Parts: sequence; C-alpha cells; structure tokens
Amino acid sequence: MDLLLRNIGLLATPTGNTARKGDSQGQVTLIENAAVGIENGTFVYVGSSDESLKGGKVIDCECRLVTPGLVDAHTHLVFGGWRQKETARKLAGESYLDILKSGGGILDTVRHTRAATEAELYEKSAALLDIMLAHGTTTAECKSGYGLNVEDELKQLRVIKKLNKTGKVELAPTFMGAHAIPSEFTDNRDAYIDLICDETLPAVQSEGLADFCDVFCETAAFTPEESRRVLGKAVEYGLIPKAHVDEIDPIGGAEMAAEMGCISAEHLIRTGGAGIRALEKRGVVACLLPATSFCLGKGYARARDMIEAGVAVAICTDFNPGSSPNLNLQFPMYLAGLKYRLTPAEALTAVTLNGAAAIGRCNRAGSIEVGKQADLVIWDAPDLDYIFYRYGTNLVRRVIKKGEVIEINKYV
Ligand code: NIG
Ligand code: FE
Repeated sequence: MDLLLRNIGLLATPTGNTARKGDSQGQVTLIENAAVGIENGTFVYVGSSDESLKGGKVIDCECRLVTPGLVDAHTHLVFGGWRQKETARKLAGESYLDILKSGGGILDTVRHTRAATEAELYEKSAALLDIMLAHGTTTAECKSGYGLNVEDELKQLRVIKKLNKTGKVELAPTFMGAHAIPSEFTDNRDAYIDLICDETLPAVQSEGLADFCDVFCETAAFTPEESRRVLGKAVEYGLIPKAHVDEIDPIGGAEMAAEMGCISAEHLIRTGGAGIRALEKRGVVACLLPATSFCLGKGYARARDMIEAGVAVAICTDFNPGSSPNLNLQFPMYLAGLKYRLTPAEALTAVTLNGAAAIGRCNRAGSIEVGKQADLVIWDAPDLDYIFYRYGTNLVRRVIKKGEVIEINKYV
C-alpha cells in the first residue's frame, strides 16, 4: 500500500456501480474505527482499523468522518465576468426570465465570455476549481453554453479539456450550445438551431470535446420540440443527452427528457406526478439544484416524491454567475435536508454515487470500495449528521484525489 488512512472515526459510503433509488438511496455503509488502503490511486483495502495493517505513508484521521469525494454533476464553471449588478434588479422585482428577455442574464455572460481569451478563461476557471476542491468536490460536470457560436463554444470546451489535464478535479465535459438564443438570432431562432445541429455539434465531435449535450428547455429558451431536435442530433453525434427542465415554467420538460433517453434531467422544480413517473420509467437521474431555488427565491423540487417513486436523486451546485454563484456543494447538501427533507444518508448518496451516475461514472467514482479510484474527503466532523448541520463554514480537512493527498487550509 502507498497510503494508509487509520483511525477513521466513521467511514460513510454508498456502495455499488449503479445509481441508488428508492429505499436504497438512504442505505449507506457505515464503518466505525475504519481504515482505508490506497495503491496506485485505487482503493485496495476498506475495513476495520486493524493494528497489523501496514502502509507506506500513514495518515491518522483522529476519529474524523471520511466519505467519498463529492461529485458535483451540474456546473457552468467556465464563463467571463460576473452578474452582481443583477442583484438590485432582482430585489426590485424583475424575474430571471424578464432579465434574460431584456438581453441580460445568460446573454450578458455570453458577451463577457466572447470577449475573454481562452487563456483568461482558463486562469479564472482554474482558480474556481481550486475552491471547489477545497470544499470536497473531486469530480465535476462542466458545461459550455456562454459562447453560443461555433468559435466561442469550442473555446469554452477547450478550456474544460485543458483544466481536465492540468487540474486535480476531474471534469465531465458537456456541450450546451442550446442554453439561450443569442441576440443575433432573436428573430430567426430556427437558424440558430440549424447552426447548432449543422456546424457546432459536428465541430465539437470532431475535436472530441464533449461527452454530453444539454439543452435549456424553458419559456424564453428552447421549446420541448426544439430541445428534441438538438438532443436527437447530439445522439447521432455520439453525445449522451441531458436537459435543464421545469426550472421556471412546466412546459413538459421532464417528459421530453425521459422520451429522449436523457441520462439526467436537471432542476425539475415544477415537475409534477406525470413527469416524475416518466423519469422513473426511463431510469433518468434527477439532478436537483436546491441552491438555485434558494438564489431565485423559487420553490423546491419534489425530492421526497421522487425518491418514493424510485427516481435516483443527485444534488449539485449548478454553479453559474446568474442563478447559483456558489461553488460549495456543502450548502446544497444542507438545503437537501432542510428543504427536501432528505436524510443525511440519502443526501450523501445524492452528492456521491448518484452524482457519479448522472455523468456515467459510478463504475469508478462515487463510493469507497476496493477497486474504485481513491477519491475521498476527510471531514472536520465526528459523524455524518454533523456535515448536514454545521452549514456556513467549510468542514473539509483533507481531500484525496486518485491517491494524492491535498491539505486544505484549516481557515479556508
Ligand atoms: O441552470 N437555467 C439555465 N442555466 C443556468 C443559469 C445560467 C445563468 O443564469 O447564467 C441554470 O440555472
Ligand atoms: Fe444549470
């Protein structure tokens, strides 16, 4: 063993290589006085802290909680500028969609992203990723969608590719050209969808820049019909479909996502019983984003009904400059308890194994089991309840990513 973690007060992890649904979402393995052995970036021992265990480097976990590394399965990490100026408009009563319709919101970030160089976007995003890592995220999904033309979508995706090579957080890249209709196509939306299908998608595929394709199926963005067209084309190009649905207006997005065979559906704030049943039937992972509900002052998705219906629930940050400028997955974890009524065990599965399932990686990430890649978090916490209770400060003490130990400053 290269590395041995001993004296773990409590090891808490879901297990398995598939998403956990229904009752099994809340069934996690708990081992007191545990140890974990790591070799070549892989877990080789998970069990009790036996005195006879020998390892190269030994870390005494001082009775702390250890969980899998967090998987944030929905982020918009790479963008130019910020949108703090919208706060006053929101406080004065303008809605998210009104701001978008007036050329602000996503379209404001598009202007700043187009104006930024690839190097500038890289520097900015690399610094943001370090913050995510410091808060326990070891794998993250990452979308384009602020370029909205061939060149600038590719620019964002190239930044993601470079970050994936150079940074410690592993990234799952998603093409999201269908995030908004860019201003130059306001009066000709079909032509923008043609551009996505005929030029951007082929270019993304030929450079091998994305694994997934996402669309914003929403009033003032893309209709279910337009979303079907984009996702259908993406599948032809070998990308796995995902969709932002029912965030603000329920226009049949969840049903569309299920029909298109999406691996995950995002937001689902307004999704009702028929949509939930459709997700369950097709095994679509529900990526719920409670920090976005918090930030928009909107309602919360029916997470309990989803779990009870047998839909696998993941919880993610939705980090973006408009509706969720927060990189710390611990905050939505807290909201998952407070607002969704998830138990700590259900919420742990939501930010680990089910997050990994939403990006097709639960065969190697999302749990602490022999044979999986060695991603974990050592928390400044004595038990699992504690990390769903002490909101507002960073409770991560150390992160291990593929066997590499990353010390987190105690005062971060
Ligand atoms: O998931 N809703 C669409 N996309 C993002 C917000 C993007 C933005 O406002 O810049 C979301 O909330
Ligand atoms: Fe989003």
